[in-house]
Amino acid sequence: MAIWKTKTGFKLDTRNTSYLMETKEKYLLHTYYGAYISDESAQDVICTHYYNFNSYPGYDWSSPSFALNSLPWEYGTCGVADYRVPPIRVRQADGSTVIDPHYEGAELFDGIPDLEGLPFPYADDGERVQTLEVTLVDPATQIAVILGYTVFEQKDVIVRYTKVENRSQATVTLEKVHSLQMDFNRNNYDFIHLYGDWAKERQIERIPLHQGSQGFSSRRGSTGHGNAPFFALCDHDATETSGDAYGFHLMYSGCHQTEIETDLHGTTRCVMGIHADHFAWKLEPGAAFTTPAALLTFSDHGIGEMSRRFHTFIRDNICPKQWRTAKRPILINNWEATYFNFNEEKLLGIAKRASELGIEMLVMDDGWFGHRTDDHSSLGDWYEDRSRLPLGVPHLAQEVEKLGMKFGIWMEPEMISPDSDLYRAHPDYAIHIPGRVGSLGRHQLVLDFSRKEVVDCIYEMMEKILSTAPISYLKWDMNRSLTEMFSISLPADRQGEFAHRYVLGVYDLMHRVVTRFPRLLLENCSGGGGRFDTGMLRYSPQIWTSDDTDASERVKIQYGTSIAFPVSCMGAHVSACPNHQTNRTTSFDTRAKIAMNGTFGYELDVNKLSQAEQDAIPAQCAFYRTHAELINRGDLHRLQTPFGTSEFGAWAYVSQDKKEILLFAYRCLGHSEPTDLYVKLPADPALRYECDGVKVCGDTLSKAGVRLVFGSGDHLALCRYYKAK
Ligand code: DGJ
Repeated sequence: MAIWKTKTGFKLDTRNTSYLMETKEKYLLHTYYGAYISDESAQDVICTHYYNFNSYPGYDWSSPSFALNSLPWEYGTCGVADYRVPPIRVRQADGSTVIDPHYEGAELFDGIPDLEGLPFPYADDGERVQTLEVTLVDPATQIAVILGYTVFEQKDVIVRYTKVENRSQATVTLEKVHSLQMDFNRNNYDFIHLYGDWAKERQIERIPLHQGSQGFSSRRGSTGHGNAPFFALCDHDATETSGDAYGFHLMYSGCHQTEIETDLHGTTRCVMGIHADHFAWKLEPGAAFTTPAALLTFSDHGIGEMSRRFHTFIRDNICPKQWRTAKRPILINNWEATYFNFNEEKLLGIAKRASELGIEMLVMDDGWFGHRTDDHSSLGDWYEDRSRLPLGVPHLAQEVEKLGMKFGIWMEPEMISPDSDLYRAHPDYAIHIPGRVGSLGRHQLVLDFSRKEVVDCIYEMMEKILSTAPISYLKWDMNRSLTEMFSISLPADRQGEFAHRYVLGVYDLMHRVVTRFPRLLLENCSGGGGRFDTGMLRYSPQIWTSDDTDASERVKIQYGTSIAFPVSCMGAHVSACPNHQTNRTTSFDTRAKIAMNGTFGYELDVNKLSQAEQDAIPAQCAFYRTHAELINRGDLHRLQTPFGTSEFGAWAYVSQDKKEILLFAYRCLGHSEPTDLYVKLPADPALRYECDGVKVCGDTLSKAGVRLVFGSGDHLALCRYYKAK
């Protein structure tokens, strides 16, 4: 059993972790989350403070360990004497925002909850999953806060969500309601988060928590390139293999916010959820609101184990099941090969040569529809441009299939160009505030997906194109952030709901598309990796990691992404050199070795490659195919960070039985007297391995390590495969 009712509260157990909450008086306290413990109470370890200032509000003198401002809450109050960052703010009809929920009861059920239109992890076949819902009610306002905990025992993951029910007779407005609050009785942690920008996504920052507030957010209407909705807290001395590490993901693709506050009493509070800045949800009597899910894991074996727990969970409980073990095609995408300058003949020329070299799918990127010759027009006109494709998409797709390849297509369903038939027919479909000139981004506007008729209209166009041609793959792009957030269909007192309703509209469309076309492989994209989150991964098992295809830059981007996400969901391609983003030249071999750490593909015109480069492709594809299972489903061990002053990066994939190890390493710059890289491999000491005909003991690999010699030159990658005999 994963969830227990204890004498004073509840205990949630996974294989290696325990989570405890206990009622004290009328409150629900958070007493422990960490490595598995058998005890059912941890009240002794919680942080309590004895004030000599007895008029301190919220301090109960008859019970001297009881002070609202220092106790660890399961979900905080707002406006009473807990002065730390609140997870919730509810505005009453009289303008007050105080809420002080008291424990009322709890319900336990098997399986997962229905978050009504929001993505949620699913239970694997035969996997036992239980959910606990604990109800707290504010007696004065009759606002109920229901805390949900779904325990994936075998995966060491707990999924939290929060529901708010208005049980009063008056209408209220939710101004903030976060998915998660987590209080810690320590503040001496390091804070890890993944920040970035366009073409520089998910760089790792690790800093000690400082006194006061810190955090990150997105107000862009979508996840954004700037901050992934993920963070970790770990011991100051935690490494990849040792120390305590907590990880948190918000399963959401809209505006998000994480606030972390340390206080004078040495405690830490974290809250994470939909950003309060673009949120105000009107709740009528009897109505309810449910937050997105938040995923939690913990490891006392370091940051590497924390990442691997999320990798397994994302692969096996979030990404669409049909793609879990299915082979992903090695694709060639024409974006960097042609940009907007292509026609059927050119695409078929690329496809023909690519198929001869072993590439399995052609993806036709931006520009095939309307009259789009550059990025100024036609978004929303999802029918082919006959001047490029005289016989239409079905004909092109069939021709590609005749070459033995699959065919994929690009769309940007959430967008509308002012120069488009759709805009001329329905200018009101674009997000706009009447009387105000809207901001263009990449010359385009965003469709109002909070309106069902707008989503329906785009679905119909998508359904038509996807059902009339053999299309196996869809790259779903999103190339600008939201501005002037407003919907002409919402009344004034519901405009604060717009940003979240937009995200629900996106999820609805994705859900409809993947349900109607269950064999369609969806690759999410947002100007590269601007919408890389576990919400999107519920519909698309892979996401274009970054528009930066330079191998050297990709080492950091993919390494950083791996802190929170599995390699099986990172789109990675070999592109032409000099690289279009950095103007850097790296060898064809390095580019392939780095792109293999993801869903492998090419993004160039194969006909323009040198003969030697073309000749290398069949072996690259064969190597990837041979090791795809190990790369995508093996355990990832990060061995050497490429961040900071490091010249190197190294990581390895290890099979479950430890009999196979695939090691990749990279060196940035060569020197006249280069130093070699030594890494210890996560080998089984009891096994004997062989690599390139050389036999070596597992204990040598894991204790003495291996020396990696790169030779002369810059931006070099190497790869070694160890197999136990
Ligand atoms: C941004 C994407 O990240 C690129 O890969 C490409 O699809 C362009 N959009 C097309 O406009």
